[in-house]
Amino acid sequence: MTTGSSKVEWDYTKLAATYTQRPPYAPRAVDRIVTLAGKPHPRVADIGAGNAHLTVDLVARGCVIDAVEPNEAMREIGIRRTADTDVTWHVGIGEDTGLPADRYDLVTFGSSFATTDRPAALRETARILRRRGWFACVWNHRDLTDPLQQRVEELIKARIPDYGYGVRREDQAPVIEASGLFERPEVLREPVLHRVAVDDWLAAWRSHGILERQAGDQFEAILADIDRLVLDMGVDELEIPYVTVGWLAAVRGGEPV
Ligand SMILES: C[S@@+](CC[C@H](N)C(=O)[O-])C[C@H]1O[C@@H](n2cnc3c(N)ncnc32)[C@H](O)[C@@H]1O
Repeated sequence: MTTGSSKVEWDYTKLAATYTQRPPYAPRAVDRIVTLAGKPHPRVADIGAGNAHLTVDLVARGCVIDAVEPNEAMREIGIRRTADTDVTWHVGIGEDTGLPADRYDLVTFGSSFATTDRPAALRETARILRRRGWFACVWNHRDLTDPLQQRVEELIKARIPDYGYGVRREDQAPVIEASGLFERPEVLREPVLHRVAVDDWLAAWRSHGILERQAGDQFEAILADIDRLVLDMGVDELEIPYVTVGWLAAVRGGEPV
């Protein structure tokens, strides 16, 4: 897929329909990100905004948002979910947002930083942030110590022995510090319990980009294994523990304001 002259490595077209079933970010994590701006209606660039999963949480806290998303299917859902709010949508990528320089109090990446060329996305973030503005990247990690998650992991690894979560579960501090553009990052970890209908949780697996990528033609078989495991539990609802994990860093330069 291309946007402008740039190639997008992660194509979410087939995953978009089920993506909205994914768990929300921990409310305290979003509170902390918005508080960084230190003002009531911060101007935010939400990058890789997709179906507006993080965007809706930011707008609910008074943010005025430019949402950047390269994928048409994801963006259409995001536009619908944020109709009549302070969100303006743009086609673009983290490495080349097309947004104006020195403008934003916050630049956020909800589960999207790992889809970018991170050093390039950090340079672009520093360009569009105002003096002392903040970068924030977050993900929701399933708590892999939970017994159900351990069984899911066993099913995945039975078919993909070297399955890995890649960059999304890595420490982001080294790449942020190596850019030389940001102060030392703060780490965010906030647990969130996702109470979810079984059908919705199983649907959300169908939007799992990293699993789809590594599973190749085994993707449907793995989804069927997870369906069977959960449906055999004979319950309608699940409580799934997640942790919202993130890195927050102020852009360097200038005196604190
Ligand atoms: C996992 S989804 C995250 C969606 C939403 N922000 C959230 O919080 O759940 C990743 C999104 O990043 C987008 N994406 C892919 N490549 C990108 C890039 N180079 N720059 C910015 N976004 C990108 C995808 O199209 C997708 O919508």
